[in-house]
Amino acid sequence: MTANSPSGPPSFGLDGRVAIVTGASSGLGAAVARALASLGARVAVVARRYDRLTDLAGEIDGFAISCDLSDLGAVGTVVPEVVANLGPPQILVNAAGSMFSYERAESEPLEALRKTTDLNLLAPFLLAQGVFPHMCENGGGSIVNISSISGRVGIPGIPQASYAASKAGLSGLTAELAVQWARHSIRVNTVAPGFFRSEITGQLYDSEKAAEYLRRNTPLPKEGTADDIVGAVMWLAGDAGSYVTGQTIVVDGGWTAR
Ligand SMILES: NC(=O)c1ccc[n+]([C@@H]2O[C@H](COP(=O)([O-])OP(=O)(O)OC[C@H]3O[C@@H](n4cnc5c(N)ncnc54)[C@H](OP(=O)(O)O)[C@@H]3O)[C@@H](O)[C@H]2O)c1
Repeated sequence: MTANSPSGPPSFGLDGRVAIVTGASSGLGAAVARALASLGARVAVVARRYDRLTDLAGEIDGFAISCDLSDLGAVGTVVPEVVANLGPPQILVNAAGSMFSYERAESEPLEALRKTTDLNLLAPFLLAQGVFPHMCENGGGSIVNISSISGRVGIPGIPQASYAASKAGLSGLTAELAVQWARHSIRVNTVAPGFFRSEITGQLYDSEKAAEYLRRNTPLPKEGTADDIVGAVMWLAGDAGSYVTGQTIVVDGGWTAR
């Protein structure tokens, strides 16, 4: 310990904190739920596939909640269920997300635009509203949204206008909530991943042509995995990130640095 760091190195521990992770039935959400639990959090895992959630909840001693988050009328049931079973949430990670259209922008159907916005932007907003009173009462909390580099840059060859718009919307929401809720010590940040292998991108990685395109555009030589994104989420979720709010942190192997 030096004279400049009287309280020692930052702590990543989350002992006993209650966390909600959406999209926890696979990919990044599942990896985040495991990591939060390994740091001591009690984690409510949320998605549609209840069998997967109960398996994960059993593994991490968490709590499974099945909810279709694109049904905005149902989203409001999540936080009360967490409060009743684990207690008031101090951490919310909005990782659920999907693409509903692979059309070029000029042809994307309105229905796809609506579904994308509901799941990727409005559900995280509603969940943030849901945790707000509990975080206020607890003297603070941390909300981490998962967006994408496509909320920041266009991705040549992989049309995703509605998805990009919804993810960019998360960054705007993040900055605004951070400023409105700072007085309650509620921090709000977004992590914007580059490409990593998951259910959503499995077909891309399985196509040699597409995989080569991803390799060519990613400066770091390693293929991205969900675990490569988790560190940034843990930093923002806990006290190590206690002075960071309103930010979008890009974790992309250098894709947007070129
Ligand atoms: N993989 C990438 O390259 C990449 C890059 C940038 C950003 N992202 C973002 O990272 C996040 C995690 O994605 P991932 O790559 O880990 O994909 P994934 O493996 O497909 O996971 C998506 C998760 O979202 C849940 N979900 C989807 N629709 C839902 C709904 N209607 N209601 C509730 N949950 C729903 C899925 O669970 P159920 O199917 O069980 O509901 C699943 O748990 C997403 O927000 C994605 O946009 C991914």
